[in-house]
Amino acid sequence: MRFKGKSVLVTGGAKGIGEAITRAFASEGARVFVNYNTSKAEAEKLAKEEGGFAVRADVSNSKQVEAMKKFVLDKTGGTLDVLVNNAGDIDWVSSWEDVSEKMWDRVVNTNLKGTFLCTRAFAPSMLKRKRGAIVNLSSTAFFQGKFPAVHYNASKAGVVALTKTFANQLAPFVRVNSVAPGFIQTNFQSHYSSKRQKELLNTIPLNRFGRTEDVARAVLFLASEEASYVTGQTLVVDGGRVMIP
Ligand SMILES: NC(=O)c1ccc[n+]([C@@H]2O[C@H](COP(=O)([O-])OP(=O)(O)OC[C@H]3O[C@@H](n4cnc5c(N)ncnc54)[C@H](OP(=O)(O)O)[C@@H]3O)[C@@H](O)[C@H]2O)c1
Repeated sequence: MRFKGKSVLVTGGAKGIGEAITRAFASEGARVFVNYNTSKAEAEKLAKEEGGFAVRADVSNSKQVEAMKKFVLDKTGGTLDVLVNNAGDIDWVSSWEDVSEKMWDRVVNTNLKGTFLCTRAFAPSMLKRKRGAIVNLSSTAFFQGKFPAVHYNASKAGVVALTKTFANQLAPFVRVNSVAPGFIQTNFQSHYSSKRQKELLNTIPLNRFGRTEDVARAVLFLASEEASYVTGQTLVVDGGRVMIP
């Protein structure tokens, strides 16, 4: 029960990795706020099951993020202990040539600007109380430059830069870290054919795709007191895949 009595907001918290993160925090005593953009029914169901709240906001829209901040801080009396910037978007392209300006704006605005806007919204209340933890979702996709979605890669590299910059500027009171998942079994993966999935599996030393719970456990560690001397870091959760050049 590492998070007993703590308030935790998970953006994109109703589905995939976000759902696993939400459930993991709730199972350790946290009061969870489940942010959603389009998955209203899933978010409300999850919040009901876990005794928390669903809160709608497109994280790339500053007005909606400010409204979400008001909702969360009103419910908690001004305290958010943990922010998880998990909301993410992607386009399955096979080349940089397929990335339109519209795709660039949507993906970069959700993944990168969304992380900035949510951090900007909640950091002041954390600083005021002189405590808090923020965990951002990056990705191993950009590490080797092989994944063709140039806009997605750039957004997730940007998340690492945001993580380090905020870690410096919010220290010593608020720790900021990120998790970089490899291939995790969610909607993100359903895009691949079974032939491609077999090929990918052969590149993973631990010989399985990741589970959403694998990522959730890493997020909880970084948000917990066990990581009280860790900030500005990116923890890779990929079965060892990026060790391979
Ligand atoms: N799965 C992987 O293999 C993998 C690997 C590396 C990194 N990641 C990262 O892990 C995170 C979660 O991925 P996932 O696989 O769980 O994805 P997913 O199943 O497709 O879920 C994406 C989540 O992001 C939310 N979202 C998207 N745009 C949003 C917006 N503008 N405002 C608020 N919420 C928004 C969605 O909410 P609604 O449904 O409510 O719209 C949904 O809850 C992402 O940041 C992703 O980049 C995933």
